[in-house]
Amino acid sequence: MQKTLILIKPDAIQRGLSGEILSRIERKGLKIAALKMIRITSELARKHYAEHLEKPFYADLEQYITSSPAIALIAEGPDAVSVIRQMVGPTNGLTAPAGTIRGDFSTSARLNLIHASDSEKSAEREIAVFFNSSEILDYDLTVAKWLGA
Ligand code: PPS
Repeated sequence: MQKTLILIKPDAIQRGLSGEILSRIERKGLKIAALKMIRITSELARKHYAEHLEKPFYADLEQYITSSPAIALIAEGPDAVSVIRQMVGPTNGLTAPAGTIRGDFSTSARLNLIHASDSEKSAEREIAVFFNSSEILDYDLTVAKWLGA
């Protein structure tokens, strides 16, 4: 089982797409291990996007991610990191394939609705940026036997 960090970004909430995104995660069969609505601060953005601080787009990225509330959540399941990345699609919504979240709902590389960790190592680091251990719930999905492993 893997855990991965997901951010439902400000544009998704403003556009009323958070339910659609959460529903896709649930319907896929992943377990939600933690979830909270937050206003991401500059400090939190700089921690989360540490590897992008020097990129030319960082200022725009920080302005966007701090501009309105977001939802942070942890999804858990077999190969959760790559499963969610495939569901999210590539960075740019204009070229993301139909069927992915960005391909279906975004036309932008900046306003791209959702973040998902790109590796198990990133997931571990990013989960610790947004959640402390008492916020992460350990429970069984009673339908697990119908989902496979
Ligand atoms: S890179 O350079 O390949 O590592 O960049 P990439 O993985 O595509 O994107 C890293 C995060 O930066 C966001 N991004 C942007 N934000 C604002 N403006 C522009 N032009 C832009 N291009 C990329 C992108 O959405 C990634 O954020 P997350 O939240 O990880 O998806």
